[in-house]
Amino acid sequence: MNIVVVGAGYVGLVTGTCFAELGNFVTCIDVNHEKIADLKQGKLPIYEPGLDALVAANLKAGRLNFSTSLKEVNNKPTIIFIAVGTPSDKDGSADMQYVLEAARDIGKYITDYCVIVDKSTVPVGVAEKVGLVIKEELKKRNLILQFDVVSNPEFLREGAAIDDFMRPDRIIIGLSSEKAKSIMLDLYHPIMRSPEKIFFMNVPDAEMTKYVANAMLATKISFMNEMSVLCERMGVDVENVRMGIGADSRIGNAFINPGCGYGGSCFPKDVKALIKMAELNDVDPILLKSVEARNYHQKRVLPKKVFNHFGEDLKGLKIAIWGLSFKPGTDDMREASSLVLLEELIARNAIIHAYDPVAMPQAQKMLPDTWISSGQLTFAEHQYGALDDADALVLVTEWKPFCYPDLTLMKNKMRQRIIFDGRNQYDPQHLKDSDFVYYGIGR
Ligand SMILES: NC(=O)c1ccc[n+]([C@@H]2O[C@H](COP(=O)([O-])OP(=O)(O)OC[C@H]3O[C@@H](n4cnc5c(N)ncnc54)[C@H](O)[C@@H]3O)[C@@H](O)[C@H]2O)c1
Repeated sequence: MNIVVVGAGYVGLVTGTCFAELGNFVTCIDVNHEKIADLKQGKLPIYEPGLDALVAANLKAGRLNFSTSLKEVNNKPTIIFIAVGTPSDKDGSADMQYVLEAARDIGKYITDYCVIVDKSTVPVGVAEKVGLVIKEELKKRNLILQFDVVSNPEFLREGAAIDDFMRPDRIIIGLSSEKAKSIMLDLYHPIMRSPEKIFFMNVPDAEMTKYVANAMLATKISFMNEMSVLCERMGVDVENVRMGIGADSRIGNAFINPGCGYGGSCFPKDVKALIKMAELNDVDPILLKSVEARNYHQKRVLPKKVFNHFGEDLKGLKIAIWGLSFKPGTDDMREASSLVLLEELIARNAIIHAYDPVAMPQAQKMLPDTWISSGQLTFAEHQYGALDDADALVLVTEWKPFCYPDLTLMKNKMRQRIIFDGRNQYDPQHLKDSDFVYYGIGR
């Protein structure tokens, strides 16, 4: 099949590359010229395990191409994916400008029947708007042309994106045309051999499924974070509680780890957008607002623990931070908990030495230059390099190399042996036995 993917970010690049790997001919389009120039050389704009090798192999095989405009695509596509960003607008609703711009381009350049697939996360009703925009453009061209708009939200997790894409738990497809259904079945056949894992539904149902899935996961996290605050106050170890409830198959172990708040490009904006959708439909989203409020407070739990130990003025103290990305396995810094921690600590005059296996370049782009030029923030070359003369270590992202640290080396390097464990990675007793002062979440 000839496929075009509009938007070559985390989702578009993974989608395009994986479909190329499955034998399709794919062109990924992005308005960011620098990104496309790099991609043509096999240079990736993001860190995603295994993606660079797949991009290189498919570029070499001629199945994957990159371009800055749909106008330049020679092969008539059977399917065009829209995989552009849908960030939060000022009022919290999902900003549809990029999706509608992509739709406008599609209307300007398609010449034959094709299936337009919304892969971006979009509120209910947007597929219909995409269809109207395409029709408007076709009308300007005096063209009568059939097309179908399908909703096929993406559920991949950054850090495990290729595996999630190639072996998905389920595929959600919202459509209303038999022709589009047969094309979508052909497309997904190689990765979805058991038909019970493909769910066909109406377009609005598919659009809503994505938001409800993310809101449910965010709710689990916020619920457990709230329980961790209560456990801590009552002298209960939330980790024992977590294991106790996770063993109940009705609850399960996923997404109940207490921590320092959820971040990333999806949960925060999707919870906000669902709140807005509810309000626009005269529903008071009491629970969703609380999920968001808990997450706001949870991101401030770690800095508060630091102030409780050292006092409000951190002048003269050197704090090491391990992990900056919003979760392990990615360099994505969007809405990362580390951003709040850095802001809080630097505002109180701490000197920060941070280390992350892959996210430091992205972090540097997002953080104020003055933090670095003034020496308040330094990026270390190695995880233990960040600990030189440190008064404390704060673990924010649970990358694997941080899980079993060399405590003897740490003792030799640190000025004070204090650990704030934002992801409950360490055994408190073991650290206490090794002469560390330990602070976890909810324990
Ligand atoms: N990142 C994830 O883990 C994830 C997972 C599931 C769903 N999603 C959803 O997928 C969508 C994309 O997310 P992302 O993280 O890949 O975004 P991203 O910001 O990484 O990438 C979006 C890309 O689209 C490009 N773009 C914007 N307008 C364009 C246009 N008119 N034509 C061509 N390119 C254009 C941008 O330059 C950018 O490179 C969002 O709706 C998001 O909610 C993301």
